[in-house]
Amino acid sequence: MKLMPLTEPGDAIACAARAIIEMVQRKPDAILGLATGGTMEPLYALLVAAHRDGLSFARIRTVNLDEYVGLPPDHPNSYHRYMARHFLEHVDVPPANSFIPCGHIDPARAASQYASLLDDLGPVDLQLLGIGENGHIGFNEPGTALDAPTRVTALSPITMAANARFFSPGAEVPSQAVTMGTAAILSARRIVVLATGRAKSAALADALDGPVCPECPASYLRLHPDCTIHADHAAGALLR
Ligand code: F6R
Repeated sequence: MKLMPLTEPGDAIACAARAIIEMVQRKPDAILGLATGGTMEPLYALLVAAHRDGLSFARIRTVNLDEYVGLPPDHPNSYHRYMARHFLEHVDVPPANSFIPCGHIDPARAASQYASLLDDLGPVDLQLLGIGENGHIGFNEPGTALDAPTRVTALSPITMAANARFFSPGAEVPSQAVTMGTAAILSARRIVVLATGRAKSAALADALDGPVCPECPASYLRLHPDCTIHADHAAGALLR
């Protein structure tokens, strides 16, 4: 695992976006593993700008990490809508090439179908990851094993509290998600992590300086042969 020098937030975001753009240029039919969340919004804006400047995603396939249980795809807080709003509606990824798990109607079945889809597609070329305040990756929360499958999982109170900022005041925040498992995440050929802001500093320090253990699933990234972390000064504030 490689920690890039700490930068201003805009530079960390630009470097992570650059890694994706270079992958698309080098391998126009790459499989990209995509993440959602506040951290990634400015990164998608850079990918959309690159598309406006001529970068084509027409042969790219995308697989998302997760989706909330209980939200239909057209719910404003679903990750389906997030991806449409921030990326997919603005670029030329064919709709048939983009995959996001379904979290409503029958989440357990949707999770096992998503696991089969990931198996059929084969290894992700570049997996983009954010990091949770408690060290989660995807929605693999503390306590998740190294080889956890793609599944329905419970969100921790810390994650629910962090995600509440995206929901209207008083709205119920989902307590479960369908998530790509740690096994699938770690099977990506390359992983690019983006961490910005002070709220990520403890998780990043645990991930990089603490033991590799289930209490901090992000620590598993140290076992990956090609994982690069782009972090800003605030996220890196507690690193040794
Ligand atoms: C999102 C995901 C999560 C987020 C993490 C950080 O698809 O899998 O692991 O990357 O919760 O979210 P933000 O960026 O909102 O702090």
